[in-house]
Amino acid sequence: MKKSTKDHNNEQAPARDRDSLFQVERINEDFVFDDRVAQVFDDMLDRSVPCYQEVILSIARILGCLLQEGAQVVDLGCATGTTLLQLSRLLEEKKFSYLGVDNSPAMLDKARLKAELFSRQESVSFINGDIKEVAQPGTEAFLLNYTLQFIRPLNREPFLRRIFNNLCPGGVLILSEKTISHHPGLNRRYIEIYHQFKKERGYSELEIAKKREALENVLIPCSLEENRTLLQTAGFTEVEPFFQWFNFVSFLAVKPST
Ligand SMILES: C[S@@+](CC[C@H](N)C(=O)[O-])C[C@H]1O[C@@H](n2cnc3c(N)ncnc32)[C@H](O)[C@@H]1O
Repeated sequence: MKKSTKDHNNEQAPARDRDSLFQVERINEDFVFDDRVAQVFDDMLDRSVPCYQEVILSIARILGCLLQEGAQVVDLGCATGTTLLQLSRLLEEKKFSYLGVDNSPAMLDKARLKAELFSRQESVSFINGDIKEVAQPGTEAFLLNYTLQFIRPLNREPFLRRIFNNLCPGGVLILSEKTISHHPGLNRRYIEIYHQFKKERGYSELEIAKKREALENVLIPCSLEENRTLLQTAGFTEVEPFFQWFNFVSFLAVKPST
């Protein structure tokens, strides 16, 4: 089955399964990107990541403005490929080539299926691998959307340095993360606001609490300032947030051109 360009404003798999993973008992289980998660992942992201589509649109604006025609864009932790497929549609005239890297076979199966459904196999491809071992020298743009938070904190600095070294001069890294605030009162309020956001999207209090527990040792957020410092330590000289929704932040980091 093929979808025409006209009707894929939203590059999602046609039949999206609703995320009800935490409606059923999941006790003492850490969150993993397995088949069950991949099955409902697109719905999960749309209902759990504030302004997800708006962030992708903003990334398209940045890449459209900063990169030359034919540039290579690499998405680290690409999951089901939504971001790359959206970018390939939004920036069609730029003729970028897109590569997604992930270590979850279930996510990659979905990503490849979606690329086929939207006839994007020529410009968008996917590989299975550990993003910490990325080796794509000369890349013009790396994307790291809601993925660094799943890398052990001690590994983040060498990982970002590796990305920096793989970028061409003047290349860009986009980093989106869930963050914490070190002001305890504000941190609590932001979490409350985020949980309200999820309730408005149909998650129950129990589902929210169970998912939070499952992510406890898996998703480890830093503050906005800690993320900025990590990027600067890796070598990026221009680092600016371009989007923030309470405890969700997206940064643009640019490698010096000389
Ligand atoms: C929250 S999802 C990313 C969402 C995606 N970037 C997007 O915007 O739609 C995190 C992804 O990172 C992948 N991941 C986590 N650690 C990884 C690693 N070390 N190597 C490769 N992929 C990894 C997971 O399999 C998962 O698909």
